[in-house]
Amino acid sequence: MNVYGLATPAVLIDRPRALRNIDRMQAAADARGVRLRPHTKTHKSPMVARWQIERGAIGICCAKLGEAEVFAASGFDDIRLPYPINPANADRVIALLDRTRLSFSIDHPVVAKQWSDVMVRAGKRVELLVKIDVGFHRCGLDPDARDTVATIREIAGLPGLDFRGLLSHAGQTYHAHSEDELRLMAEAEVRTMSDLAAWCRAKGLAVDEISLGATPPARFSLHHEGFTEYRPGNYAYFDRTQVALGAATLDDCALTVLARVVSKPAANRIILDSGSKTLTNDGARGFTPAPGYGIILRDGHPDQTLLIERLSEEHATVTATTGTTPLEPGDCVRIIPNHSCVVSNLVDQAWLVDGDSVEPLPIAARGRIT
Ligand SMILES: Cc1ncc(COP(=O)(O)O)c(C=O)c1O
Repeated sequence: MNVYGLATPAVLIDRPRALRNIDRMQAAADARGVRLRPHTKTHKSPMVARWQIERGAIGICCAKLGEAEVFAASGFDDIRLPYPINPANADRVIALLDRTRLSFSIDHPVVAKQWSDVMVRAGKRVELLVKIDVGFHRCGLDPDARDTVATIREIAGLPGLDFRGLLSHAGQTYHAHSEDELRLMAEAEVRTMSDLAAWCRAKGLAVDEISLGATPPARFSLHHEGFTEYRPGNYAYFDRTQVALGAATLDDCALTVLARVVSKPAANRIILDSGSKTLTNDGARGFTPAPGYGIILRDGHPDQTLLIERLSEEHATVTATTGTTPLEPGDCVRIIPNHSCVVSNLVDQAWLVDGDSVEPLPIAARGRIT
């Protein structure tokens, strides 16, 4: 089947590119002796996660218990949720512990005590990592606060919990303004985490794991010592934001949206059949402003004269900045979206493209938001 025979909009995954991205990140982690635990949030697909495991990943991350349930049912036996989980979900966590090795992060002593009580009552223990805020200011203990080591010790000492170590996510790197700023953020994360681990060890705590992970700083972080695990997610597909942050080239972007021109109301305006329900309203981040909702590829090449100016739910309004475009109704384009992870979440199935071969790629964990 040819991709142009697909109903549009269609989400396409270029298999050779995805495999190359996976291979490169694995090689970078292997070269440093760091365990790679990819975040599945980008592809939400057991098939792609299997490629990652086959190439050396030691396990996976999920964002939600619902995603972990899908991956556990597909046979994944080491799943980490690098987020705080509330004990309101205790039944699901206990059920998952019977099917897979599950760990998650905690950043609150009261919640830690509640989890410990739940686990003691269930006659189980759960592996956990204490989450540290390295500058994203979403969740995590403040590494500079005077009582942080004491709080970690308190959590680690709880009977229902099996303390594994410390975990961080440098989400602030998505807001870096330059390569230098991004590099400094990456270095600061590694330093903060290894210093904190050293202070914990000096107080007698066994810190077996130091888990970091995000795609933008990976190219810097993976040159440093001082952590044991890396958890990148977006790198499997990349997107326009990663290109704008210097983490990838356009040729690395494995996910594109195939869209068709459905109208041409003016010489300089075309309408595509992919709107916010496919591309999402996410803007691109990066070192310089990147307007619009993705990069349009014509015959595989970016057409910088076409700006995806506005999205309705089902349609994109595209302006030709030169005043005219040769595209006509019926023509197809491919779009590199600003943010690939959210696109994967919007379709039950993508298409795996490899040369002339086009196969369905089910996105089994999509929409599992609880
Ligand atoms: C806690 C955590 N770890 C790892 C990742 C992976 O980051 P990225 O997609 O930038 O590789 C994310 C992404 O949101 C995250 O929230």
